[in-house]
Amino acid sequence: MAILVTGGAGYIGSHTCVELLEAGYEVIVLDNFSNSVPEALNRVKDITGKSVKVYELDLLDRIGMEAIFEDNEIEAVVHFAGLKAVGESVAEPLRYYHNNITGTLILTETMQKFGVKKLVFSSSATVYGTAETVPLTEDTPLGATNPYGWSKLMIEQILRDLYVSDKGWGIALLRYFNPIGAHKSGRIGEDPNGIPNNLVPYIAQVAVGKRPHLNVFGNDYSTKDGTGVRDYIHVVDLAKGHIKALEKVATSPGVDAYNLGTGNGYSVLEIIAAFEKASGKTIPYQIVDRRPGDIAVSFADPQKAKKELGWSAELGLEEMCEDTWRWQSQNENGYKE
Ligand code: NAD
Ligand code: UFG
Repeated sequence: MAILVTGGAGYIGSHTCVELLEAGYEVIVLDNFSNSVPEALNRVKDITGKSVKVYELDLLDRIGMEAIFEDNEIEAVVHFAGLKAVGESVAEPLRYYHNNITGTLILTETMQKFGVKKLVFSSSATVYGTAETVPLTEDTPLGATNPYGWSKLMIEQILRDLYVSDKGWGIALLRYFNPIGAHKSGRIGEDPNGIPNNLVPYIAQVAVGKRPHLNVFGNDYSTKDGTGVRDYIHVVDLAKGHIKALEKVATSPGVDAYNLGTGNGYSVLEIIAAFEKASGKTIPYQIVDRRPGDIAVSFADPQKAKKELGWSAELGLEEMCEDTWRWQSQNENGYKE
């Protein structure tokens, strides 16, 4: 029996493959490599000494998808595959909705056809929209501010409806906060295409000399130092959360959302300082206007995941920055060495 990992070559997917293999699972990856490269999976093999079966396939290819379920004994699916750039989703909403929502429909229809009813889905803290009452609990009212966020919210609803129609399903909706860091080996990590959208990959490229300085998007929020506050979580902790969620859906049917965060909020300036310490490099920065759509503060109440999944984050900000730096400094051009 195997676990099908969609989007398994991506940033969070590759780290989760490592944890799955190390926990003794057989792993099958489905990825169209639209935002990743096969080399990430070679490195997963180097780290673990175990191989994964890889299908280069688009979620939208129903016939190809059915063939995977025909040819393998799949017991559960961890579903990472999706497009995730907020700005791009505003410019190309139809591509985002089609890829993320139709892709998930084809996946779940295929699962239903083959009687596979255990699913762990990559949702996001973005489903809390503009909520500013922190910490965010799973009961905080939901909302979205862009097509990417709406696609996550709509998929959560589709999966809830699916469970209502058939109580045999076990579904975990994992709402990730801000994943950063990399595997300790320095062999796998986040490899953004072009100019990074997110804070830590951007800082890492400044530290390594690829970009001259960081733009800090606003210092007039009502936060400790005026800059935005987020709940950064080490990607390896996040990956381990998927193992716990799989154990849960394997043993108890239901549909449940879980925050995967640390519960700590750090400001942009605190992240810069922590990264400078970890890398020994100075990060030049300038304050610019707020980024449209940004909220001031977002951090999790992670108690539900602790209570019901037996999961909590273990790695702190120091390790997140050290591990990001190891990956970035050893792989200046990501996987394109
Ligand atoms: P990523 O882009 O590194 O990984 C996604 C993978 O899915 C890539 O390998 C890509 O090639 C693949 N993919 C995309 N569309 C596909 C399709 N139609 N068919 C097959 N493969 C396809 O992103 P990530 O950071 O690893 O994120 C994984 C998941 O977690 C995504 O669903 C994302 O929305 C969600 N998420 C990410 C973050 C974050 O900050 N990284 C935060 C919250 C939620
Ligand atoms: N920031 C900067 N400069 C940059 C990039 C970011 O100052 O160059 C600031 C932002 O204004 C924000 C903080 O750093 O205050 C974090 O920004 P990120 O872009 O790293 O993360 P976000 O919280 O804005 O968004 C991330 C993902 C979204 C996801 C959201 C909630 O990118 O996809 O977390 O999970 F929806």
